Amino acid sequence: MDAAGRKASGQIGRLVVVGLGLIGGSLALGLKAASGCREVIGVARRQQTCEQAVALGVVDRAVTEIAQVLPELEAGDVVFVAVPTLSVESVFAQLKDQLPAGVTVTDGASVKGSVIAAAENVWGEVPEFLVPGHPIAGSEQSGVTAARDDLYIAHRIILTPLENTASEYVQRIERMWQAVGAEVLSMPVVEHDEVLAATSHLPHVIAFGLVDTLAHDAENENIFRYAAGGFRDFTRIASSDPVMWRDIMLANRDAILKSIDLYTSNLGSLRSAIASGDSEHLMGVFTRAKAARDHFTKMLAKKAYTETMEAKEVTFVAQPGGAVNGDLRVPGDKSMSHRSIMLGSLAEGVTEVEGFLEGEDALATLQSFRDMGVVIEGPVNGRVTIHGVGVHGLQAPPGPLYVGNSGTSMRLLAGLLAGQQFDTVLTGDESLTKRPMNRVANPLREMGAVVETAEEGRPPLKIRGGSALKAIDYTLPMASAQVKSCVLLAGLYADGETSTTEPAPTRDHTERMLSGFGYDVRRDGPRASLQGGGKLAACHIDVPADISSATFFMVAASIAPGSDVLLRHVGINPTRDGAINILRAMGADITLENTREVGGEPVADIRVRYAPLKGIKIPEDQVPLAIDEFPAIFVAASCAEGETVLTGAEELRVKESDRIQAMADGLKVLGVDAEPTRDGIVIQGKGGSDQPAVFGGGEVDSLGDHRIAMSFAVAALRAGADIRIKHCANVATSFPNFAELAQGAGMNLEVR
Ligand code: S3P
Repeated sequence: MDAAGRKASGQIGRLVVVGLGLIGGSLALGLKAASGCREVIGVARRQQTCEQAVALGVVDRAVTEIAQVLPELEAGDVVFVAVPTLSVESVFAQLKDQLPAGVTVTDGASVKGSVIAAAENVWGEVPEFLVPGHPIAGSEQSGVTAARDDLYIAHRIILTPLENTASEYVQRIERMWQAVGAEVLSMPVVEHDEVLAATSHLPHVIAFGLVDTLAHDAENENIFRYAAGGFRDFTRIASSDPVMWRDIMLANRDAILKSIDLYTSNLGSLRSAIASGDSEHLMGVFTRAKAARDHFTKMLAKKAYTETMEAKEVTFVAQPGGAVNGDLRVPGDKSMSHRSIMLGSLAEGVTEVEGFLEGEDALATLQSFRDMGVVIEGPVNGRVTIHGVGVHGLQAPPGPLYVGNSGTSMRLLAGLLAGQQFDTVLTGDESLTKRPMNRVANPLREMGAVVETAEEGRPPLKIRGGSALKAIDYTLPMASAQVKSCVLLAGLYADGETSTTEPAPTRDHTERMLSGFGYDVRRDGPRASLQGGGKLAACHIDVPADISSATFFMVAASIAPGSDVLLRHVGINPTRDGAINILRAMGADITLENTREVGGEPVADIRVRYAPLKGIKIPEDQVPLAIDEFPAIFVAASCAEGETVLTGAEELRVKESDRIQAMADGLKVLGVDAEPTRDGIVIQGKGGSDQPAVFGGGEVDSLGDHRIAMSFAVAALRAGADIRIKHCANVATSFPNFAELAQGAGMNLEVR
């Protein structure tokens, strides 16, 4: 968005900017460009700065004394105090008794506690018209010549109003900042000062200190000659304005000291690790830091891309028609990727993983184990190296473990964490927070674990450490691999033999992978048992492509005439192959080629060619084997001739969304007769008609559920007009390159 394109939504009266540096000058320029105020008046101590600011067009006019403009001001005008932190009080003193009623005063100082103190010194109490604020923007450049009209676009402004700050003043300041493209947030004063001490003030102390160390104390006088990119990038901020930063250090003393102490202690540990050659410690710190920095880089990239700080919002626009063709490899299996990190972390030795799914869900598991002290290198192109710590080697994480959208992470981790000596809290995103957790909390409690949930068994899960777990013989009330896995993983820590009996076969990756790590799991039909107290030995894991992700292309090829795809290296574990069986029963042309076994899991290349489909009654024994594939299967059913009936699938109502309702709603929008039932759905297929278009166009809501989003994208192959799919960001949880692969295969999919 260029300055001229910004809307004049701010609409304040006049803006008086006291202090014409980068911060004040940039607000002046931005607001002028956005026509967000009537006039901008600058105040600077030096006449020369005033003249320069007028000549550069930063302000309409400028004066050297604020008293010269105060009599002209009226209600609706704003005074922005943009002077170094410790000079704020003297500006307030000049405003006192002379400020006309209804004028708002705000500031841009990096420390808010000292601004509050300054206001109390001057007025006796913080006046209702003062809205303390802090734009989180700037650069190492300073002065009016550095001012830019776009400095605040997509940057955050933190306001720290007090209880007595009048809302009309706060709202005016919010509108002013929004007019220059910023996002406005509020925070308590103390929190602001602590956050900024850690994220901004500490880095400046270190940068100034490091450059000074090299400049003054280093033995080699020519040291800067040899300093290259690393030095330049790391110390850019040491070119910042010294007065401003001296003021910040003095004004935010206590919070900065706290941050320096923490950093000094961590630096001390690094020093010891280097001194003693503790490579594990160094790798731990460096891999965790790299992961955190990479995450931050992505956040920054998204900000620049969207130009606003609104929650990331992705819409798919799928254009009608096309076919899918080619040779594709979809990403690694999500279930196995989770388990590879968990078991690799608990193993003794170094586990190498290939084909790891670099999606947000599996990465959430990976991060959780890093937080518990496991050194994990990667992922780089699907390769992960896990330095296992042994079954009893996990350490208490520094805070709650946040697992985002991932039910698998939360439920499987709950089992493992119940056996630890430390307390943990598991949290997740909005969708996960609505999902049932008593299904794992109850059996864990039977084993003697202390597990608390929020109301109705929802997350967060609080798990008390130090409980002695006892083995149980658990009959699962529902067919759930997550519950089975949770109990078996807790069983590693239990005294005696833990067994699970499932009402129908569910995915058995936990059992297979435990065996792969040398842990004895006895299996007898629906029953799996293991003895607590054993060890896992590190191994090599080759994660095959995820059949759940492959299903979108199996359905795509089956419904779009002219399609012929080969899906490489897909896991076809018999507890996961329901989609193949169901689609074949509907008439799909699916062949398995090159069937082989890789690391204890069956794998094949799957070839799918277009074939007309017919509706079926889906056998209930296939439901757990295709549990994640139903959204896509419903799309196939819509394109089939005749009715498809699904029963026995009530579990679909508690997935990332209520998948029965979400799909029925979306299919209806697209003109398909889809009737939800308590435990399934009845779909009247439209495939028999002469019309190539089965679906009308329209807008559907994926409700943030990755599989719903991808299913409707596939539907567009047989649509008559565009299908717009809202809330698709979570596709990244399981299939981050879905859009690229789909486009490459021939689908017309645009990501907005
Ligand atoms: C999973 C099991 C299934 C599945 C989920 C992954 C697993 O959940 O829906 O996507 O990795 O164990 P339930 O076990 O709850 O059916």
